Amino acid sequence: MDFASSNNFTFSETLPVNTSLYMSFNESQPVLHETNNKYQLNIDFTRGGLAHRLQYGGGKGQTIAKAIGITGKNKPHILDATAGLGRDALILANLGSKLSLVEQSPILAEMLKQAIQFAEDNPLFRQATENGFELYHADAAMFMNQRIIQDCDVVYLDPMYPEKKKTALVKKDMQILQTLIGHSSDDTNATLLAAALNFAKQRVVVKRPKGAEVLAGPEPTMSLQSKKTRYDVYVIKTIST
Ligand SMILES: C[S@@+](CC[C@H](N)C(=O)[O-])C[C@H]1O[C@@H](n2cnc3c(N)ncnc32)[C@H](O)[C@@H]1O
Repeated sequence: MDFASSNNFTFSETLPVNTSLYMSFNESQPVLHETNNKYQLNIDFTRGGLAHRLQYGGGKGQTIAKAIGITGKNKPHILDATAGLGRDALILANLGSKLSLVEQSPILAEMLKQAIQFAEDNPLFRQATENGFELYHADAAMFMNQRIIQDCDVVYLDPMYPEKKKTALVKKDMQILQTLIGHSSDDTNATLLAAALNFAKQRVVVKRPKGAEVLAGPEPTMSLQSKKTRYDVYVIKTIST
């Protein structure tokens, strides 16, 4: 109820009707429900596909790690400016980096906050706790322009997919995010990229679906491709590794 009133959401003790999305709190863990598709989403760093990837995933050989520039010697402090479900952030934290996460949606920020608290004592989250894994609820462009924190080496951007991507190809979790947040406009993405390029010390990395256009702004220094994803890398300062 406090969460609803502090965000001007409607609180209901019965199942809401006439709404495409609603949130419930199950023993304080927030769950996001999509009414039409009867699909629900919660953030749990300790179970499921992400936990499996953390245990058995490809370590520093993963394309995302190469794009960020994580090596044995270089463990950059990363600002994940579009935190979403926190998955990429946790993968990067488990490779040794300190992570600062920014999320604009009050719903996702609350889900992330609770997920971090819930995972705190779990071995899969130990490295994140040790390195630092801090969450801010804010607009990331404002956050970077006002330098709310300092000393971030890398800014990681994973904006919402462009509208033309066929929804049938998007995973259910991302579909529910699209219902919640919508698609991000080219202008919003360009604003984020400009702020990130001013803020990061080493590089900015933008995750894009394969085949999508690069964001408006300077050309990336290089792009790395994995199966379905492309990482556009904007190098600001070369680091010897
Ligand atoms: C595709 S999701 C990110 C998924 C994330 N990489 C993960 O691994 O879970 C994009 C997220 O960026 C957030 N976002 C978009 N623009 C933002 C902004 N200006 N500031 C902060 N968050 C933003 C959206 O609310 C959404 O949650």
